[in-house]
Amino acid sequence: MSGEGRHARHVAIIMDGNGRWAKRKHLPRAMGHRRGVEAVRELVRSLKDTRIECLTLYAFSSENWKRPEDEVDDLMNLMRRFIKSDLPEFIANDVKLHILGDWQGLAPDIVAMLEDALEKTSHGSRTLAVALNYGSHAEIAQAARKAAEEGEVTEESIERHLYSAPLPPLDLLIRTSGEIRLSNFLLWQAAYAEMLFVDVLWPDFTPDHLKHALADFAERERRFGGR
Ligand code: IPE
Ligand code: IPE
Ligand code: MG
Repeated sequence: MSGEGRHARHVAIIMDGNGRWAKRKHLPRAMGHRRGVEAVRELVRSLKDTRIECLTLYAFSSENWKRPEDEVDDLMNLMRRFIKSDLPEFIANDVKLHILGDWQGLAPDIVAMLEDALEKTSHGSRTLAVALNYGSHAEIAQAARKAAEEGEVTEESIERHLYSAPLPPLDLLIRTSGEIRLSNFLLWQAAYAEMLFVDVLWPDFTPDHLKHALADFAERERRFGGR
């Protein structure tokens, strides 16, 4: 089969390597995170040239709170600035925001900004899903709890309560920076996803890298347990 028919509808990325990028350039870590946001912006802009229906980005894990307070503050401030500066562009480009994770646990002003952004982008046709204060174990545990409250706990009833419930099935999971691990990201959703670990630090990841990843995906044979 040619790659033409097999395109990824849902791609997720573990955006890793901002710190190492900065270190290599003898810059402060905060600079790495700043350039990381620019890479996100370019990637979101390039979505319209792809057939991706949903791009999910791991922006802040529930374990990232363990980092030094000033780094966490930098990341939160970047988030504030990013929402403010890029929301008009999301709306103009038909991007619909979705958030995965315990985002209600973030600072109240960020929660308010996110609620506003969710509402203003709700009619968009292409989804940008951002994982914020996200951990896969916690996601599955809360989904199982809700499923149990409603009745029988089944794969379907758990799935209905995952943060990803409204999103298409995950096709391709990419991690940058050369690390080969999932770091508590989309463990349930990745059951049959294709994975790609690239040796590029996140601030250096460009729309061209994404295009290569999609071409690689198109060549893969997915079996889902069959033959
Ligand atoms: C990813 O880059 C950004 C976040 C986790 C928020 P890192 O900050 O983890 O960069 P490295 O892994 O230390 O290079
Ligand atoms: C995963 O990266 C989280 C995000 C990219 C937001 P980390 O840098 O936090 O993961 P570990 O600590 O290397 O596993
Ligand atoms: Mg890292």
